[in-house]
Amino acid sequence: MNKKKVSANTNDCNSSDSNYTMEHADLMIIVKLCKLMNASFNYDLLLQDIMNYCTDVMNVEGASVLLYDEQSNKLIFHLATGDKSEKIKKIFLDCDEGIAGWVFNNNATILSNNLDTDNRFCSRVDNATGFKTKSILAVPLLIGNKVIGIFELVNKKSNTGFTDRDQYLSEGLAAQIALAVERLRLIHENIAKSRLATIGETVAGLAHYIKNILTGLEGGKTIIDKALPKNNYDIVNSIWPIIHNGLNRISTLTLNMLEFSKDRKPDYTLQSIESVITEVIQLYKNKAEFEHITLKSIVDETITPFYFDKTGVFRCLLNLISNSFDALSKVESPKIFICAEQTEKDVIIELTDNGCGMSEESIKKIMMSTLFSSKGSRGTGLGLPVTRKIIQEHNGKLYIKSELNKGTTFTMILPKNFKPDYIE
Ligand SMILES: Nc1ncnc2c1ncn2[C@@H]1O[C@H](COP(=O)(O)OP(=O)(O)O)[C@@H](O)[C@H]1O
Ligand SMILES: [Mg+2]
Repeated sequence: MNKKKVSANTNDCNSSDSNYTMEHADLMIIVKLCKLMNASFNYDLLLQDIMNYCTDVMNVEGASVLLYDEQSNKLIFHLATGDKSEKIKKIFLDCDEGIAGWVFNNNATILSNNLDTDNRFCSRVDNATGFKTKSILAVPLLIGNKVIGIFELVNKKSNTGFTDRDQYLSEGLAAQIALAVERLRLIHENIAKSRLATIGETVAGLAHYIKNILTGLEGGKTIIDKALPKNNYDIVNSIWPIIHNGLNRISTLTLNMLEFSKDRKPDYTLQSIESVITEVIQLYKNKAEFEHITLKSIVDETITPFYFDKTGVFRCLLNLISNSFDALSKVESPKIFICAEQTEKDVIIELTDNGCGMSEESIKKIMMSTLFSSKGSRGTGLGLPVTRKIIQEHNGKLYIKSELNKGTTFTMILPKNFKPDYIE
């Protein structure tokens, strides 16, 4: 969307080409922001730091960034500071709604110290948050000529209200914020593209894997086709586990591919980790019995429910446990233990097996996040990258300890206080 720069022609609005002359202190504010922008590689946190900085130096009750979302055609509060910041981040605005909508459509700054008489102001956000907006300075965020969002400052904490100087400075800050937002967007886009490219590169390997499973399923189908007309259910029963196993593997592969290639929005809810571990154990109980593997879990009962994505963590445990089963195929007295305990800040889940273990070289390849599998066409190399991705989405960590021919321990660390923005 290309927008023409227009000056807002009301009393409250000024164009950025005002007569204000920049002072040394103003320059220092912008210089400090530029330094802050390069202070960290964790760009999500960095943006929040930038917002806090702006709130402070501009002496306002709150600052926010709304971004235009093409899919929903809405303006979405992406970042906010102030008392109601958590509430505000759940609000979407129509593209022509309120002051933000006006700035978005006209590509011009609004400076308004008297919102009671400003008919562009819409009180919906205030009503939803319980915040009282008295004055506002709203600046378009531009990449080239394109308005990507709006930077808003609300309630100047001084009797003067917002001044020409504030407008001048906020337009300087907005230019830097737009760059930071764009940089974050490009990083996310790049990660998603490189994941897709990785899958693309290994399509041949994945096709082999699927072909293997299909061969098993085809064989099972032929036998069942012959057995059914003769009502030979003994044969059907004996073949069924093979088909079951094949379908499970295809379902795991598909879910892992989806998880790996897409930026899925995890569904964080207050959950008990014990129930997830119990479900995993239940699912693998029969297989463990059949393969004479000791499968046990020890969960600290004092672990209280905490926020995590149940489907995601369940998938992590399935990926880890299925690897342990694979590693135990030629081992005497095979064992798998899942232990969960907690520290003040984290829940720690350990999955240990006494299987074939890994060489240092294998561990290095796994750590490099490429799709590495030592299982030929019986593996995809997707399990661990997906597991790591899900854990990272929780701000958690995954550690590997392994010794060749001795066994392996995977340690998942999930922060207990991890609470995504949209949960109050
Ligand atoms: N518990 C384990 N014991 C031994 N090796 C393991 C274990 N878990 C993972 N690995 C190694 O890591 C590789 C990657 O695992 P994963 O990403 O799940 O892919 P896949 O299971 O399809 O090979 C495996 O091929 C195996 O070499
Ligand atoms: Mg695996």
